Amino acid sequence: MTILGIETSCDETSAAIVKGESLKDKVKLISNVIASSLSLHSKTGGIIPEVAAREQVRYIIPVVKKAILPLEVHKDLVDAIAVTVGPGLIGSLLVGIETAKTLAFLWNKPIIPVNHLIGHIYANWIENAGIEFPALSLIVSGGHTDLVLLKEHGKIRWLGGTRDDAAGEAFDKIGRLLGLSYPAGSQIEKLADEVSNDIYKFPRPLIDSNDFDFSFSGLKTAALREVQKLQTLGEEDVKNISYSLQQAIFDVLIKKTFTAAEKFNVKSILLGGGVAANQTLRKRFKLEIENLKLEIPFFVPEKRLCTDNAAMIAAAAFYNYKESNWRKLIADPELYFD
Ligand code: KG4
Ligand code: ZN
Repeated sequence: MTILGIETSCDETSAAIVKGESLKDKVKLISNVIASSLSLHSKTGGIIPEVAAREQVRYIIPVVKKAILPLEVHKDLVDAIAVTVGPGLIGSLLVGIETAKTLAFLWNKPIIPVNHLIGHIYANWIENAGIEFPALSLIVSGGHTDLVLLKEHGKIRWLGGTRDDAAGEAFDKIGRLLGLSYPAGSQIEKLADEVSNDIYKFPRPLIDSNDFDFSFSGLKTAALREVQKLQTLGEEDVKNISYSLQQAIFDVLIKKTFTAAEKFNVKSILLGGGVAANQTLRKRFKLEIENLKLEIPFFVPEKRLCTDNAAMIAAAAFYNYKESNWRKLIADPELYFD
């Protein structure tokens, strides 16, 4: 089965083709085209929804055309169209949904609505076999931090999530405080790599709470207090704050994930979402498995499939195939786990 995926939930405009044979195997990645309006947003320190949606209207047709280029006669070779229906920015979601609806009508193909968060989990199945159930997945992005248990394809149990800011959001907001451009996550990673001491020892929110919830908004205040204490914010200060921030956030992510992994006796651990692109976090997951002497395989998508992309949407549709009529498709900006 060949699926065309479309993803426009935030500032990216993406279309991709994946091909799957069996639910027990990986999906093949045929194409994955991503256009971003990030350079416009870095100037404003965050995404302006209206600007993002307007750019997406300009990008969507060329992006879809480029994604289907590897297929000789696209109309006949695509079996279904998958599209993100939420969560996300309403104007942005509508661009993808209306495009998917039009193609489904013109090509007479079924349409599969996909939850963006489930897409982040399924990025792990792209060109990657061997994931066994039950699997535990940590989704860490700019909008979400969630721990979920997958009993099998489509059977997802939400264990916990952030009560306020997401991990990526904490990086972006504190990055702004440090004078970095939006989004700040990968810059914080590079700066933190240049030092090796946790000088600031920021709080580890909810690390010992008896649940799988997270809370990262307090870190903003903690970082602001340190910035205010410094007369001027020098390069070394920015590096040290970045390092301490990463340590604080990652300590909590690791503790909660591995407590859940042991509690639910999982057979695979999956990481996903933009923050999963962080090498330090990826290394710390591997190290924790070694330290705890666990024999649980750890999966993380390649970096370009951690941040928003349409390949993960097409992959999620393949493993959770549920056709919908294009007339019934609606955007749901608040969509979450059931
Ligand atoms: O998944 P994503 O592309 O969009 C959402 O669904 O939110 O994630 C974007 C988030 C941003 O907050 C960005 O700062 C963060 O992922 N991010 C990183 C890294 N690359 C992106 N955070 C930490 N380290 C990185 N290397
Ligand atoms: Zn995302």
